[in-house]
Amino acid sequence: MANAADDSTRRDFASYYDGVEGRPSRPTLIQAAVAFERPGFAVDLGCGDGRDTIELLRRGWRVLAIDASEEGIRRLKARPDLASDGGLETRVARIEETDWPPAELINASFVLPLLAPDAFARVWRRIGERLTSGGRFAGQLFGPRDGWASRPGLTIHDRAEIERMVSVYCIERFDETETDEPTARGKPKHWHVFHLVLRKS
Ligand SMILES: C[S@@+](CC[C@H](N)C(=O)[O-])C[C@H]1O[C@@H](n2cnc3c(N)ncnc32)[C@H](O)[C@@H]1O
Repeated sequence: MANAADDSTRRDFASYYDGVEGRPSRPTLIQAAVAFERPGFAVDLGCGDGRDTIELLRRGWRVLAIDASEEGIRRLKARPDLASDGGLETRVARIEETDWPPAELINASFVLPLLAPDAFARVWRRIGERLTSGGRFAGQLFGPRDGWASRPGLTIHDRAEIERMVSVYCIERFDETETDEPTARGKPKHWHVFHLVLRKS
């Protein structure tokens, strides 16, 4: 059955990728990556055109980069700053319909809220299962005052729900932000975002 989450990934992300081209890696990803003594294996869920994947590769990580958008993966592989693709594996897939090997770092920047609630629950569980002991999750969730909160097919969490979800982890970052900034496509939006870095003990 089609739902808004399907629409969000079928939607042409090219204008999003145009809008974020050249932007730096997410602070959550950098915080998680530098916390390790040495690079390992990372999975970048909803990697888009690779702004986080590229930073992991630069730091010596091996990366499996997954995105539902062929265009995102194409742009990642064509990046001029992709010095060597030796450590990079890519996959065009919906993250709720694919699996990945155990990883020291699982990154999901601004993608998990785009999943419908049942898909979100599966992916969140799988993230916990696939993180190695001592492994880290980095990513964002959206709160109830987010401008997209009433859109059907997305997954929104309030602070109390997130506190419950992260209680099994060591919390290294739990920032709640509210800002008014245009989207990558230039549309005005209120952002209510939780920025997380979590370590599995
Ligand atoms: C807002 S962009 C974020 C891209 C990148 N992580 C970043 O921080 O710039 C969301 C990305 O998630 C991808 N995406 C959305 N839903 C997905 C799903 N169910 N499975 C895999 N990728 C998905 C989109 O194609 C898009 O590249």
